Amino acid sequence: MAGTIKPHATGRVAKGDVTKRVGIEQIEARGINVKDLIEKLIDAAGAEFTTYYYYTILRMNLAGHEDYKEICEDARLEDRAHFELITPRIFELGGTIPKDIREFADRAGCPDAYLPDDPTAINILTVLLEAERCAIRTWSEICDITFGKDYRTYDMASRILQEEIEHEAWFIELLSMERDGAVRPSGHFRRGEPGDAPYSKNRGFYNP
Ligand SMILES: [Fe+2]
Ligand SMILES: [Fe+2]
Repeated sequence: MAGTIKPHATGRVAKGDVTKRVGIEQIEARGINVKDLIEKLIDAAGAEFTTYYYYTILRMNLAGHEDYKEICEDARLEDRAHFELITPRIFELGGTIPKDIREFADRAGCPDAYLPDDPTAINILTVLLEAERCAIRTWSEICDITFGKDYRTYDMASRILQEEIEHEAWFIELLSMERDGAVRPSGHFRRGEPGDAPYSKNRGFYNP
């Protein structure tokens, strides 16, 4: 209606200014240090990407354990989905991933998930479990930083965290039985298809 005040029609970013983003201004106004957040997101994206790589080797070496291979494959493909989900956000915030993949791998926020020297199922499952735990710590921190301040990054980090917590539970179940003969259920059955990523797949964002 003519004369009605529209409080959000204008703000600190000048009309037509393409050098600034209201999407950044608003999260800064709520207390986000965007520069620091970008750095943490690059470290986290690096961990997802390198873990995806290392899990490929771990999955291959679970030879003879078809069930373990399948679950490792789910975790592997879901880490790729996590990388795919969070990387566009880094650019949206004005950042970039490193030009050189070596730099990217080196700054990953979690240790390399190397194939153990003695690649038994127990040893591989232990590596998988500890990698998931690092991921849970990483995404919990991103959730803490963004909660109530940066709704978009929080939503993405929270989706990823849901799956990391499931991954930990899967590997606890498998390692517990394989190593200790003890039943510690994860509450998990199988994904609909390998790497289903029910929470984090970004396909839905683009092809609703
Ligand atoms: Fe992940
Ligand atoms: Fe994971």
